[in-house]
Amino acid sequence: MLAGHLPVIRARRWPVNQKTKGEKESIGKLAVYPGSFDPLTYGHIDIVERALEIFDKVILAIAHETSDASKRSLFTVEERIEMAKELFEHLPNVIVDSFKGLLVDYVGNTNAKVILRGLRATSDFEYEFHMASMNRSLNIHLDTMFMMTSKDYFFVSSRSIKEVAALGGAVEGLVPNLIARRLKEKFKLPVTQEKQIGWEY
Ligand code: PNS
Repeated sequence: MLAGHLPVIRARRWPVNQKTKGEKESIGKLAVYPGSFDPLTYGHIDIVERALEIFDKVILAIAHETSDASKRSLFTVEERIEMAKELFEHLPNVIVDSFKGLLVDYVGNTNAKVILRGLRATSDFEYEFHMASMNRSLNIHLDTMFMMTSKDYFFVSSRSIKEVAALGGAVEGLVPNLIARRLKEKFKLPVTQEKQIGWEY
């Protein structure tokens, strides 16, 4: 019987976690959902709303711009924070925040042990796997959890939303009306009557 081996395996698997079961449960109630959110889409909002079914609180952690020019965001971090705060105003358990530098350093300063990310398709997997592995190697106390994006939004990305909006395509129904309006303002397109599709904010 392997019974004698079990504590050894456990000790290896959780070498630093000396907490009681109750403590472990309580630290699992906060998740950090990081991202560029440039801009927020219904895909992101769907993940947040579903995460609130699992976690008591979700911190939407908006990444500041990096020095990498190829990753320059369309909306400034201040604009992204302002839009997110407006969109999640009705959900008091969503905390909108921003972070600079390493994600693990930011998460380490919260009580969260979970980094939450959405997965749309297998194409996301390699990037996400790399990021989750790197983050775990930087801080073994943190784990990344993935939620599958809802089937209605699996083709929606901030990048494609920006491209479609820049070329004058309709993004209503894929992003909240607030975001569709702000995209039009950014790209200096006429703000027309908003279509009432999907969620209203
Ligand atoms: O929405 P995005 O652009 O896919 O989000 C990526 C983000 C911001 C979560 C990621 O780039 C990040 O965590 N940046 C902070 C820098 C960091 O910690 N890098 C190490 C992980 S590889």
